[in-house]
Amino acid sequence: MILELIENEEKYYEFIRLLRINPMTALGWVQLDHITPEQQKVYMAQHGKGYYICLADKVPVGYIGAVGDDLRVATLPEYQRKGLGSFMVRELLKRHPNVYARIKIDNNISITFFKKLGFKLSYYIMTPPTKIEK
Ligand SMILES: CC(C)(COP(=O)(O)OP(=O)(O)OC[C@H]1O[C@@H](n2cnc3c(N)ncnc32)[C@H](O)[C@@H]1OP(=O)(O)O)[C@@H](O)C(=O)NCCC(=O)NCCS
Repeated sequence: MILELIENEEKYYEFIRLLRINPMTALGWVQLDHITPEQQKVYMAQHGKGYYICLADKVPVGYIGAVGDDLRVATLPEYQRKGLGSFMVRELLKRHPNVYARIKIDNNISITFFKKLGFKLSYYIMTPPTKIEK
């Protein structure tokens, strides 16, 4: 499998959106939003330059992005556990050496993933008590 990390282009906006909202990956995100194609275009116009697409044998299989230094990464479910996420993070670090990952406290897969890549726990993010539904 030949892996490449290429710059984002408008033709990949929909690929990123669909992977971002894929139920198999969505639970990993800090923010759980549905995203429309229109919202994606607006978001990408602002932040798309920090995103990269992972191609495996020329086919898009994942993406990684740095928004400021905040990293986000996803691999298509059927391509996970093949080293693609690690490849994307290592490549991103060459271009954005100061990135960090904000990870949901119950996202054990990502915690293991980033630890294996040498990331260290540096901060806790404390959120206020959630409103209790009646
Ligand atoms: C996190 C994610 C990007 C990892 O992508 P990936 O392409 O599977 O990553 P890799 O194949 O490079 O995995 C590297 C290591 O991470 C750990 N890991 C990855 N997936 C795992 C899983 N499902 N269960 C346990 N450990 C896992 C393993 O230690 C793995 O090494 P190993 O396969 O040699 O045991 C992928 O699971 C994903 O898209 N998750 C949903 C989105 C998300 O939560 N992103 C992170 C928030 S920024």
